[in-house]
Amino acid sequence: MRIAVLAGDGIGPEIVAEALKVLERLGRDGLKFEFEHAPVGGAAVDAHGDPLPAATLEVARRADAVLFGAVGGPKYDALPRPQRPEQGLLRLRKDLGLFANLRPAVIYPELAAASTLKPEVVAGLDLLIVRELTGDIYFGQPRGIRRLDNGEREGFDTMRYSESEIRRIAHVAFRAARKRQRRVCSVDKANVLETTQLWREVVTEVGREYPDVELTHMYVDNAAMQLLKQPKQFDVIVTGNMFGDILSDEASMLTGSIGMLPSASLDANGKGLYEPIHGSAPDIAGRGVANPLATILSAAMMLRYSLNQEAAARRIEAAISKVLAQGLRTADIALPGEAKVGTKEMGDAVVSAL
Ligand code: IPM
Ligand code: MG
Repeated sequence: MRIAVLAGDGIGPEIVAEALKVLERLGRDGLKFEFEHAPVGGAAVDAHGDPLPAATLEVARRADAVLFGAVGGPKYDALPRPQRPEQGLLRLRKDLGLFANLRPAVIYPELAAASTLKPEVVAGLDLLIVRELTGDIYFGQPRGIRRLDNGEREGFDTMRYSESEIRRIAHVAFRAARKRQRRVCSVDKANVLETTQLWREVVTEVGREYPDVELTHMYVDNAAMQLLKQPKQFDVIVTGNMFGDILSDEASMLTGSIGMLPSASLDANGKGLYEPIHGSAPDIAGRGVANPLATILSAAMMLRYSLNQEAAARRIEAAISKVLAQGLRTADIALPGEAKVGTKEMGDAVVSAL
C-alpha cells in the first residue's frame, strides 16, 4: 500500500510522525506500507515557491491514499492568494477530485466531561457530517476584489452548485446512512439562496431512491443552534462546502476537542486524502504538546476507506479507547488539574496499546 505523506506546516509534522509510528507498528504485523513524503503548504512555498509543487501532486496521484497533516501559518498570511498554503490543500482536493468529505464526530465516553457542553447533552454522540468539498463558494467563479466606479473596492465570491455535484454528494450521504441509523439531515439556506434551493430539490430527488432512509431538511442557522441544543438528534448531516466547514468545527467541540476529529476526503473511486480537521496550530507548533489522536484516527479511516483494512482500522480505534480509558490526556482534552502528556507520549501509548 503506497501512502503519500504530506505533513505540511505547524504541528503537521509532529502529529503525522505519530500516525506513521502507529502504521509502522501495524506493519510489523504484516501490513505492507510504502511511505513517500512530499512538501505541501508553507513548507512547499519555502522550498519551491508553490504550496502544491507538481512533484507533490504527482506523489499524491500515484499513491493509494494520502495522509495529510495541516497547512498554514502567520508567516504566509501576507502572500498573494495563489501562494497561500491553504491553496495547496484546496488544489489537491480539486485536482484529485476529492468531492466527498466525511467528518465523523464521535465522543469517547471518557471525554464526555471534557466537552464545554453538559455531559448528558453529548454522551453517546455519534454523528457524521458529509461535506461537499470541491464546489460551492470555495471554488465558484467569478471571484475577486475589484475597483468600483465610485472608487471604492468591492470583494466578491460566487456560490454555485451544479445538479450533478449535488447528486453525487447526496448519494454518498444516503449510502453512509444505510450503514448507520438511516437518517439524513440536509442542511441548506433554501429560504434565501437559490443555490441551496436547488440543493434541497436535488437532495429530495435523490432521497426517493433511498425509501429506507429518512430525509429531513434544516436551515443552516437552525442547524448551528440544534448542534448545541440537541446534537444527538442527528445521524448523517449532508451539506455544502462552506456550511460544512463551519458546522464541522462546531461539531468537533461536542467531542471535547477539535484535536480528536479525523476526516476522509474521497473521490468517486474511494481513493482518499486523510487529515485531522484541525489546522496547523502555529501557537503550539514545535512544543510537542499537540494532540496526535485526530491524525491517528485519520490513519484508521484511511485503512478503512481506501485500503480495505477494516480490522486494522478497528485495532487503532480500540487502542485509542484504551489509552483514553487509561487516563492519558494531551493538554486540549485534560480537565483542570489532570496530568498531561505530550504528542510523542500519546503516540507511544497508542503504539503500546496496539
Ligand atoms: C478545513 C479547513 C480548510 C477548509 C482550510 C485550511 C482551507 O478549514 O479543512 O476545514 O476551509 O476547507
Ligand atoms: Mg475548516
